[in-house]
Amino acid sequence: MALSNGPSRAGDGAMMSLLDNMVGVSDCVLLEPLTEDGFVENLQKRFKANEIYTYIGKVVVSVNPYKPLPLFSQNKISEYRGMNLYELPPHIYAITDDAYRAMRDKNRDQCVIISGESGAGKTEASKIVMQYVAAVCGKGKDVDTVKEQLLQSNPVLEAFGNAKTNRNDNSSRFGKYMDIEFDFKGDPMGGVITNYLLEKSRVVTQAAGERNFHIFYQLLAGAPDVLMKDELDLTRNPADYYYLSQSGTQKIDKINDKEQFAITQKAMQVLGFTDEEILSIYKLLGSILKLGNVKFTSVNTMNGMEGVGFQKENEILDVCEQLECLKEDMIHALTKRTIGQKGEKVTTSLTPAQAAYARDALCKAIYDRMFTWAIKTINNSIREESKDNPKRRKTYRKKKVRDGTGRKVMGVLDIYGFEIFEGNGFEQFIINYCNEKLQQIFIELTLKEEQEEYVVEGIEWTNIDFFNNIAICDLIEKSNLGILSMLDEECLRPGDVSDQTFLNKMNTTKSILGHPHYESRSKCKSDKSIDHESFRLKHYAGNVNYCVTGFIDKNNDLLFRDLSQLMYKCDHLLLKTLFPEGNPKHNSQKRPPTTAFQFKSSIAELMKNLLTKDPNYIRCIKPNDDKAPNDFNEALVRHQVRYLGLMENVRVRRAGYAFRQLYELCLTRYKMLCPKTWPNWKGAAKDGMVQLLTHLGYKKEEYAYGRTKIFIRNPRTLFDLEQRRHLRMHYLATLIQKIYKGWRDRTKYQKMRQSVTLIAAQYKGYKAKSKYQKMRLSCILITSLWRGYLARKEYKRLRYEAKCMWAVGIIKKFFIGWRVRKEYRKLFRSNAAPKIIAFMRRYVISKYLLKLKTQLPTMSPLDRNWPPCSPMHKSTHSKLKDIFRRWRATMYRIQIDEPRREVLGTKVTASDLFKEKKSSYPASVPVQFRGDYVRLRINTKYSKLAVQTNDQKIIFADVVDKVNRNNGKITHTLLVLSSKSFLVMDQKSLLTKYRIPLTEITSITCSPYSDGVFVVHVTKGGEFTKKGDFVFISLNVIEILTRFSRAVQMETNKENVIKIADRFSLDFNGSSIQATICTKNIHEINPAPQCKRKGKRLDIMA
Ligand SMILES: Nc1ncnc2c1ncn2[C@@H]1O[C@H](COP(=O)(O)OP(=O)(O)O)[C@@H](O)[C@H]1O
Ligand SMILES: [Mg+2]
Repeated sequence: MALSNGPSRAGDGAMMSLLDNMVGVSDCVLLEPLTEDGFVENLQKRFKANEIYTYIGKVVVSVNPYKPLPLFSQNKISEYRGMNLYELPPHIYAITDDAYRAMRDKNRDQCVIISGESGAGKTEASKIVMQYVAAVCGKGKDVDTVKEQLLQSNPVLEAFGNAKTNRNDNSSRFGKYMDIEFDFKGDPMGGVITNYLLEKSRVVTQAAGERNFHIFYQLLAGAPDVLMKDELDLTRNPADYYYLSQSGTQKIDKINDKEQFAITQKAMQVLGFTDEEILSIYKLLGSILKLGNVKFTSVNTMNGMEGVGFQKENEILDVCEQLECLKEDMIHALTKRTIGQKGEKVTTSLTPAQAAYARDALCKAIYDRMFTWAIKTINNSIREESKDNPKRRKTYRKKKVRDGTGRKVMGVLDIYGFEIFEGNGFEQFIINYCNEKLQQIFIELTLKEEQEEYVVEGIEWTNIDFFNNIAICDLIEKSNLGILSMLDEECLRPGDVSDQTFLNKMNTTKSILGHPHYESRSKCKSDKSIDHESFRLKHYAGNVNYCVTGFIDKNNDLLFRDLSQLMYKCDHLLLKTLFPEGNPKHNSQKRPPTTAFQFKSSIAELMKNLLTKDPNYIRCIKPNDDKAPNDFNEALVRHQVRYLGLMENVRVRRAGYAFRQLYELCLTRYKMLCPKTWPNWKGAAKDGMVQLLTHLGYKKEEYAYGRTKIFIRNPRTLFDLEQRRHLRMHYLATLIQKIYKGWRDRTKYQKMRQSVTLIAAQYKGYKAKSKYQKMRLSCILITSLWRGYLARKEYKRLRYEAKCMWAVGIIKKFFIGWRVRKEYRKLFRSNAAPKIIAFMRRYVISKYLLKLKTQLPTMSPLDRNWPPCSPMHKSTHSKLKDIFRRWRATMYRIQIDEPRREVLGTKVTASDLFKEKKSSYPASVPVQFRGDYVRLRINTKYSKLAVQTNDQKIIFADVVDKVNRNNGKITHTLLVLSSKSFLVMDQKSLLTKYRIPLTEITSITCSPYSDGVFVVHVTKGGEFTKKGDFVFISLNVIEILTRFSRAVQMETNKENVIKIADRFSLDFNGSSIQATICTKNIHEINPAPQCKRKGKRLDIMA
């Protein structure tokens, strides 16, 4: 055995191994120490981690998980495809792949042997194998058809051969061996199914809680109504049928019989069953159910013997209709028995019990033979070359392959495992015999293989001590002396034969009794564990007690000839084929072969078949009896480990050297442990291994060098290697990590540096480019502006030039026009009228002016004359008059001297003040204003006096009347007005009574009448004016007031000092007096003025 053979697909360094990350040990060969406890514990540990598969060398031990696991998928298949067995965790895919490739590439036929007890997962395992094979082989229309048919054979086989048992809801009740045939490319071409020992007793009896074969329930649940009523005349309720109702169980959780029926029917069609054949099968099934309901009663026959009658004969009628036979024939066959040959036939009546037995036997026979026929039909369909049958022509398209050359075979054996029950009967005996044979070939093949390998590898073969079960096989099957031949002999022997006589015979035969593996009560008298009806065999898997009851009967498996003849007589499509011995012409006296004989020969054939092939094993283990996930019943598993002989397996596998591996692979895995082989060994792998192992210093007997493989005796050494490898890998990983990190960081740094340079270059480029772009744009802008400016300037110049040219043109035109007009105007008649008119006007005007010149009035301003004129010059004439007058006045004024100007100025002021305001004004106009009426200017006294008061410039001086403030009496007094003040003086002494500066005068009031009264109002309470206002009366009132007005204006710039009113108020010594002026009779010349003061009233009459 090699942990790995053939080149690894993965790279050297990354080579995977099932030693990586394993739970417990993936290969029990590596268990250390190897004990049953350790073995079970390892399985348990792995089971808990959902690792349901464990290797023993190349054998897969599978523990049923009873739950879906993510282990089966197309991805998983691809994962395992082409990988070496030990590269991935143990799996059925791995050994299937290994087997498939060995078959395809090495041209060696293979078989996969699946064993284990009921419910351990054998059938599931066989399906997994099929699934894998179907997935990995080629594609194409033919190939797909074959694959489909191979896969579709399963539902049919399960429907007819499986049933619910207390251990397994889908328990296979027959052994199955399927040969799948492949062409040289590894594509499937067909297959052959061989069936072993169907548990046909289930057709008529089932234990409580179990069911009959699935197909019965499927038919009742799924058949269409037409079929049920018209063809089969069945009811849907299984409880209506005795064969389906006795166990009390008709339904299985999670299984839908109706759906399953459809699947089965579809599969039958795919497999080439014709519609008539399918209908015939349903009819047979219906007949079996109806026969089961037939009840026999006891009746007395004519000769007084006990006979058989039917409770309801119409049930028989139904069956006859289905099987197409005569009712009488049927009744006869079920109730009578004919013994003897032609002529000397004797017919006897059966008892009801015998009749029931016969009926059950018939039903079992029909079902069993129909099952075998169905498998034959399937074989015809999936077989690579088949016998001609025109009905199934459509399935005969298969390619024919020259025998021997390209054809390769892979067999899958799904067979019941060892059975050790409380009570073990004939079936267990047969089954366990089969398992003994399988164990035998297992040992034989394994040892042979081991030995062969040792020889090939040139390693010395040391004999191994192991349990060889050939002695037990001999005890059972040896011709003439074995238990089976003894049973056959007993069955054939005439005379009184019973199970007990058979046991006795064994107990008296020396070769059996004396056999070390045989025990019985008569051999070990004190052993109470064996009862008197049993014997015990010491199987390789444990001791089993067999009760002999039923051995003879079951081995005989006889069907009364009446029944087989009846079946042959039926017109039903299949029955003639199923019961050929019923043919009256078939007159052989030979007994049909016994069950034991048939089984023995078929097993022998199977063994012969298997021996020609490379075996691959799947050993299934059931973890508990409750079909429960996650429940590992240690005792139950230990029991199975024991009777599956798994410890035996391991021991044989470990016989010489526990571990072996190709030098190359081994060196690759461990080369890091020796400086000479690390990191690369240049020479031959074997030399490398020598170097490696010598370096590690293991004992010489621990290993051996084969031709291509290294052999390691002890798992301990392998684990030590693994341990060292693990440590070393740790160190190497760190080293690699270190180097890698260094490399990574360096590379990163380099990259970054390059990137920085690149970025900088790019950036600089970008900067320069954008600067250049900017500059370029600026240049373009500037030049365009400059050019624009130049162009505009040029344009302006040109435009100006053009304008000038245009103007020149215009001017020239105008000029020419003007010159031409000028030259020609005088020639125009129309121009004559205005000229004449202008001339005439000039003439008239000059004539008028010349005439006026002669008529001008005198230069006296008083001359109001002005010559007349024609109306034509009226407005000019009046304007000229005005201009002339102004000019004449101007001329007049120029002639006047300064004193006269003063006199006239005063007159003008008087006119301004009094014209049309005072009645006495007109009379004053022609009078000359003399000013100094009293010749004061030449008075020396006054001159001296005036120097002191700055009153030298005398404007007016005259004697006036002054009204006494207190009594109104009028007195004469001298009033002097200088340029600065006015003075009231004594006319004779020139004594100054009052001197009032002009600035103190607020206003001067006179009446509008022709009187000479005037009142000088002074500032109230002033230094000079304490006594109040002055009231004077003078004939020269116009001159006085005019001069007062001009003097005050000159001194104070005050205008409008003169007020004209006949009622006003005045201030006398601080009290306000209301004064009224009225005139006396105007005809009186110079009337004397009178003043009356009455309190606050002053009436002045003048
Ligand atoms: N690999 C598996 N994964 C999940 N369930 C399984 C597996 N193998 C078997 N089983 C369960 O166990 C039941 C019995 O398996 P089966 O193959 O019919 O047993 P056997 O053929 O050995 O009697 C199946 O119906 C299924 O529920
Ligand atoms: Mg099964």
